[in-house]
Amino acid sequence: MTEQPITNHDDFATAIARIKRESTRPIVLVGLMGVGKSTVGRRLASMLSRDFVDADDAIEEAAQRKISEIFDEFGEAYFRDGERRVIARLMEEHSGVIATGGGAFVDDDTRALILDKAIAVWIDCDIDTLVARTSRRNTRPLLRTGDPKEILTRLYNEREPFYSQAQIRVQSMDGPHSDVAHRIIEAIDQCM
Ligand code: S3P
Repeated sequence: MTEQPITNHDDFATAIARIKRESTRPIVLVGLMGVGKSTVGRRLASMLSRDFVDADDAIEEAAQRKISEIFDEFGEAYFRDGERRVIARLMEEHSGVIATGGGAFVDDDTRALILDKAIAVWIDCDIDTLVARTSRRNTRPLLRTGDPKEILTRLYNEREPFYSQAQIRVQSMDGPHSDVAHRIIEAIDQCM
């Protein structure tokens, strides 16, 4: 389902209280690089008084290597295997909010696991905003191999059929990330 307009303060407080009371599933954020999964995830977790974990950070910690080093030394397939194991573990350990790397939900096994155990939220965003946001850091191996706009456009087209399987979709605009977190709460409340 797609998001509805932001509701008033009382409705929002009621939505938060209901999710806290009734939902035990982790909330897993999926979507392309640069959509703001980590920042939105932190805001969302804090609004819901839950813990937050970034799967890419957990992978780096488990491998004792940067993501770019894992890609360089072992290749993408090896990274995806580790990513699947780490996300499975995080979903067991955390009932809060988990931000995943942009390719995680494209992997059939990882996606099946997330859909089975969590509430998957696709944060969607237009390509120009993604290009602007991702150009601020050079830490993403997949964007180093060519023109970022072309790569992001190709990835968007390839991945959209997978991302759209998430139970919830919200649009990230150029506004504050807390607005996105707010709309995620409303959307979860509406589909409970
Ligand atoms: C990737 C996205 C990255 C990271 C890795 C691969 C992808 O995470 O997992 O570089 O395949 O889109 P972010 O989406 O957090 O940048």
